[in-house]
Amino acid sequence: MEILRTMPKHFDVVYVINPYMEAGLGNVDKRKAQEEWDALTRLYEELGVDYGLLEGEEGLPDMVFAANAALTFKGPNGEKSVIISNMEKKERKPESAHYEKWFRDHGYTIYKLPAHLSFSGTGDILYHHDRSFLWGGFGFRTSLETHREVERITGLEVKSLRLIDPWFYDLDTCLAPLTEDTALVYFKAFDEASQELIRNAFSDPIELTDDEARNFTCNSHHLRDRKIMIMNGRSPRVAEELQRRGYTVHASPTDEFLKAGGSVACMKMALV
Ligand code: ARG
Repeated sequence: MEILRTMPKHFDVVYVINPYMEAGLGNVDKRKAQEEWDALTRLYEELGVDYGLLEGEEGLPDMVFAANAALTFKGPNGEKSVIISNMEKKERKPESAHYEKWFRDHGYTIYKLPAHLSFSGTGDILYHHDRSFLWGGFGFRTSLETHREVERITGLEVKSLRLIDPWFYDLDTCLAPLTEDTALVYFKAFDEASQELIRNAFSDPIELTDDEARNFTCNSHHLRDRKIMIMNGRSPRVAEELQRRGYTVHASPTDEFLKAGGSVACMKMALV
């Protein structure tokens, strides 16, 4: 199984915990959300992506954004392992227990962080393309100290990047590391030192405009070893840039989910 997805039956925008939700509040077309989710399901099936499913829970409308639930990694003897999130927002805190149960039932070794350390899971921690280290976002949903804990637990270095723009509250909204040279990046979301770290790491970054970034272009799903990108179809220029670099790009609209501040990448949890 490559990814875990949560069904959108209870998805909605009923509170505001990021700037996108202001306009989204009470405006979700639930039928359309289900249709978008189903179209994405069909695409995963066409592409042969093996996914697990969680039902979702009433009263947890953001649970569909599975990326925030945890970070999976391989333990020292190759064992499937997971660090469960500590959501910063009280509205989302109860999600963790449901995901934890799923991981337990599927044979994962479970790690937890001290309660005072916030952790947004793979929203804020991304693997470098070769999995040799991790990129970590901090400033909104994850504490800097959490990065050090993640290093201790996974044995992988975390390169810490400070997020400074509330529209880009999770790292997966403004960075997508793709290869040794290439990443999708929205530089303005980072402080200067972090921008420099990213520039030094990627010789061929695809830099996003404000518009492309707010349309969640970074929040695309990269099928790592297959040079396939699943995007929400709102940034044709970036799709072309990727095609020029040998990617096959699939568009799958996520308009309803954008109202909650999420898209393709965060609508799944990557599994090891
Ligand atoms: N409404 C959700 C929140 O604010 C959206 C989460 C999107 N997740 C992400 N990894 N970008 O928590």
